Amino acid sequence: MLRFRPTSIGLLFVLASCATDTGIGPLVDYEEVNASTIIDAPSPTPGQSAPGNLYVAERGEYLVELLGCGACHTDGALVGEPNFERSLAGSQVGIAWNNPLGDRYPAVVYPPNITPDIETGIGKWSDQQIANAIRAGLGRHGERRIAAMPWQGYATISDSDIVAITAYLRSIEPVAHRVPDEVAPGQRATAPFVYFGVYRSR
Ligand code: HEC
Repeated sequence: MLRFRPTSIGLLFVLASCATDTGIGPLVDYEEVNASTIIDAPSPTPGQSAPGNLYVAERGEYLVELLGCGACHTDGALVGEPNFERSLAGSQVGIAWNNPLGDRYPAVVYPPNITPDIETGIGKWSDQQIANAIRAGLGRHGERRIAAMPWQGYATISDSDIVAITAYLRSIEPVAHRVPDEVAPGQRATAPFVYFGVYRSR
């Protein structure tokens, strides 16, 4: 029995925008795009980290696909064509996470590489750190809240499902791919990003 709340990924309103010389005016300089939702997750590789555990890793693959992790963490999934050579290895397109109408230069995060690559992915993360990121939106050392990821919707994922997701993430091919650094509010992003979310009128 799956225990998670449906996330709002399918309902998100997305505007794609690129940094221009004059800065960004969300109502002017935007292009409407269709959000991709569910992106195939690559199959676990026997002989990688979860060799005796292939069933668990396969279940993790199923969950990762269902929960739409690749919709953000796969390059080209937010805008353009998903790059399956880099499945789950992070996105060169970021997500602005504050009010697009209030901030000319919004804060932007780039969905990171969650393949087991040591340098650019989550190869050095412990199981607990991975679980805390998914269920509580905590950074690796608990120092910050992860922005833009719908971790609230993942908060009630059961322990056995978290074990499966983690076994799966450890079992896929590591891909070396670094995403752009996050952009603080008021700073100008040099890599493209999307606006994403639901904003209430006053
Ligand atoms: C709506 C986009 C989105 C979806 C869907 C999403 N994530 Fe994320 N995720 C992000 C962003 C953006 C960050 C980094 C945010 C930050 O650093 O503030 C992140 C961070 C993470 C991290 C921490 C890694 C690191 O290097 O900081 C892990 C692990 C992670 N996500 C796993 C998952 C898993 C597993 C799923 C599916 C169950 C998922 N994410 C779904 C956008 C998403």
